[in-house]
Amino acid sequence: KRNVITDTLNRPLRDLRISVIDRCNFRCSYCMPKEIFGDDYPFMPENELLSFDEILRLAEQFTKLGAEKIRITGGEPLMRKDLPLLIEQLSELEGIHDIGLTTNGVYLIKQAKALKEAGLHRVNVSLDAIEEKVFQTMNGRNVKPKAVFKGIDAALSAGLQVKVNMVVKKGVNDGQIRPLAEYCKAKGITLRFIEYMDVGQTNGWNFSDVVTKKEIYEKLTDIAPLIPVKKAYFGEVASRYRYKDSDVEVGFISSVSDAFCSSCTRARISADGKLYTCLFAESGHDLRAFLRNGASTEELEHYLTSIWTNRSDRYSEERTEETVKKRKKIEMSYIGG
Ligand code: GTP
Ligand code: 5AD
Ligand code: SF4
Ligand code: SF4
Repeated sequence: KRNVITDTLNRPLRDLRISVIDRCNFRCSYCMPKEIFGDDYPFMPENELLSFDEILRLAEQFTKLGAEKIRITGGEPLMRKDLPLLIEQLSELEGIHDIGLTTNGVYLIKQAKALKEAGLHRVNVSLDAIEEKVFQTMNGRNVKPKAVFKGIDAALSAGLQVKVNMVVKKGVNDGQIRPLAEYCKAKGITLRFIEYMDVGQTNGWNFSDVVTKKEIYEKLTDIAPLIPVKKAYFGEVASRYRYKDSDVEVGFISSVSDAFCSSCTRARISADGKLYTCLFAESGHDLRAFLRNGASTEELEHYLTSIWTNRSDRYSEERTEETVKKRKKIEMSYIGG
């Protein structure tokens, strides 16, 4: 039975984002700057990660409270061993109609087919530039764009739906807005521009590094006029448009210039099993300890319900110079974006 719960701002629980690993093969400056995430960085040991059985148990309980969409994140989720097995089990859950994965795309060459066969519907591939030097500056690991292009092609041939995410950082990759838009338009792929956000403590974020939705929008109209597209469902993160001369869409994720907290239906679970009710939460709820202490199904249901019904997060709507500096924020690679 399903009992959709809502929080103090009347937002239902709809989406569950599950991080399956805190490691990544990239070192994007805005997420895991290489000066901080070095060789001796204390990533989670394997026994601290939720097991597939634990993830499944939580996901099932979340579906009973309203979750209908699951997104697998990381770090880089394709670095988690046997991931297709997890996808297969999640896809059998009653009430889940959409399973997506957010990835940097490199390992799709090897895994796209198995993921699709396991029941994955879609992948969102992060790609911040198509010019080699700019991409290498962004990813911190000298990875060439070609490795990601190949991953995208593998996903498309496997029959997965593909979207591309581009985080825009002023003065670094804003010159790539138009080239990336043209690449995606030619391939028929939706490109979403993400305003650089002040997630975590390590990326040295500054308001002046942000390129806003409005600025990006204006650059795109050189390609073709943009027509707004209606939201597909309550709580959709991106505002969507399509080019006037085609069916291809672009989206904007404008958490800084135009926050969307009032329709935020997302719960996030970190790889070590903490539940966060906001990307910018200061602390999480230790679901792993709860499970490992032998909680019953009823106790779990009760716990999750009390957390969500007390939720009042709306960080992006409250963001000021003060909150940016003062709040102790968790890292993006830990919470999964
Ligand atoms: P779709 O289901 O394809 O729309 O995926 P999505 O956009 O929800 O997920 P994805 O992992 O591709 O995230 C794209 C960007 O949106 C990332 O930078 C996320 O951090 C950001 N994002 C997603 N949800 C939220 C949110 O609730 N708040 C904020 N501030 N940013 C979010
Ligand atoms: N601001 C905006 N987006 C970010 N991502 C990672 N760090 C940040 C940040 N500081 C993006 C990644 C990926 C998604 C999960 O989050 O590029 O597409
Ligand atoms: Fe890795 Fe994605 Fe973070 Fe880049 S943004 S370091 S690809 S987890
Ligand atoms: Fe949701 Fe927090 Fe993002 Fe607002 S800032 S949309 S509450 S995750």
